Amino acid sequence: MSGITHTGIRVAAVGDIEDGEALRVPAEQTGHGDAIAVFHDDGAYHALDDTCTHGRASLADGWIEAGEVECPLHSARFCLRTGAVQCMPATVAMRTHRVEVHDDEIWLYPGTGAAE
Ligand code: FES
Repeated sequence: MSGITHTGIRVAAVGDIEDGEALRVPAEQTGHGDAIAVFHDDGAYHALDDTCTHGRASLADGWIEAGEVECPLHSARFCLRTGAVQCMPATVAMRTHRVEVHDDEIWLYPGTGAAE
């Protein structure tokens, strides 16, 4: 336990992010080291660090399908729920962040893992 209280930030309303699309939340807004990508996949919302662990590519620009995002640069795929690598060339998992929906508003909790 770090003892730090992580607070959520409202990043969008439900409907602002189409199914199969992602929103790139800049680092200045998240207060986090990297921008964070919030993904909408078939009614579920997930968040990962935006910059691919393999190179300088924005996963918010990637292809989202069936619980995974494919990096637009070299096509590595990551699990949206866990950040785990699903296929090469990436070998390092993405960091996850918790996303919650309250009253049709999408809230992001930067620095809090999705499973925490
Ligand atoms: Fe993402 Fe290479 S930069 S797979």
